[in-house]
Amino acid sequence: MNENTIHGGVKWQSPSNIAIVKYWGKRPGMTQIPQNSSVSFTLSKCCTETSIFYEESDRFGLHFRFDGKENPEFQTKIAEFLKRHIIAFPFLEEMDLHINSHNTFPHSSGIASSASSMSALVMCLLDIEREVKGGIELDRKRASNLARLASGSACRSVFPKMALWGATEAFDGSSDDFAVSLEDQIHPVFKTYHDSILIVSDAQKAVSSRAGHALMDGNPYAEVRYDQAKQHTATLLEVLKAGDLETFCRITEAEAMQLHALMMCSDPSFILMKPNTLRIINALHEFRQETDIPVCFTLDAGPNVHILYPDRDTELVERFIMDELERYCVDGKWIADRVGDGPHKC
Ligand code: PMV
Repeated sequence: MNENTIHGGVKWQSPSNIAIVKYWGKRPGMTQIPQNSSVSFTLSKCCTETSIFYEESDRFGLHFRFDGKENPEFQTKIAEFLKRHIIAFPFLEEMDLHINSHNTFPHSSGIASSASSMSALVMCLLDIEREVKGGIELDRKRASNLARLASGSACRSVFPKMALWGATEAFDGSSDDFAVSLEDQIHPVFKTYHDSILIVSDAQKAVSSRAGHALMDGNPYAEVRYDQAKQHTATLLEVLKAGDLETFCRITEAEAMQLHALMMCSDPSFILMKPNTLRIINALHEFRQETDIPVCFTLDAGPNVHILYPDRDTELVERFIMDELERYCVDGKWIADRVGDGPHKC
């Protein structure tokens, strides 16, 4: 390498997020523009760590490794994203990138990693831009916008605690193009929330979220769903401010059930819940009724159950998980995650 060649290395860790109001359905013909607004908790344990070594070259080059091994599927996804949006990263046109990525959560835990991996990638690319061009402050709005182009829900991972993505009259400054932080808009109790992720199945997703979003186009309940999600967002924003945990539980569970109901009535239809998903939900409802603890569940596009509760109830809820729910998890596996501070440079 010539000593005048521009080169260097950057490394970022970025978390996954779990949606309370779900994004399910894109506007046709647009790049990841949601049909409705969504709200999520940013997590802290389920992260992707990405490092990029960059070096000036006569053309763009990409070498991707996941867990130290070549990974053609991810490599293609990243290459497609960069080629399509090279205009946002003109400095890459004459750059060779060596990307290494790994997840901090267990392999084959059935947890989708596109939000964490794509937000980590974007944070690294913006850091390279800063090093190459100099003097540019980290702009989270821009980072969120670029992460959205790579994978919709990734745009919410850029912010600490909670984020809102999608234009809604209920929140000034909200946008379909990027997420905004809700950190200063929520009652302190929500900053203490835990997300215990119960691994009901560690298999790869049966239906990709890309295919799932596309099936919303012909779904007979689509319009009703988008209206409901908009109402849920508006109510949830009030609830988050007020610290109303009972209504929080009601909206969170209604959203999880609707997401899966939509899958069951698309054509072709699909069921991602497993018998143990339902056993966990029933046991959780009984526990909530008996104890009055404001603990609730949500589901992603898969069978694993996310149990959400404030920090003050950790001891009782974790005991309940160990005594009553672990038996429904693959090899007793669950991840004790909680709300986190967003991406950071390593
Ligand atoms: O960002 P995508 O395309 O992987 O879609 C995410 C869809 C859900 O995880 C089911 C919901 C959400 O809002 O995160």
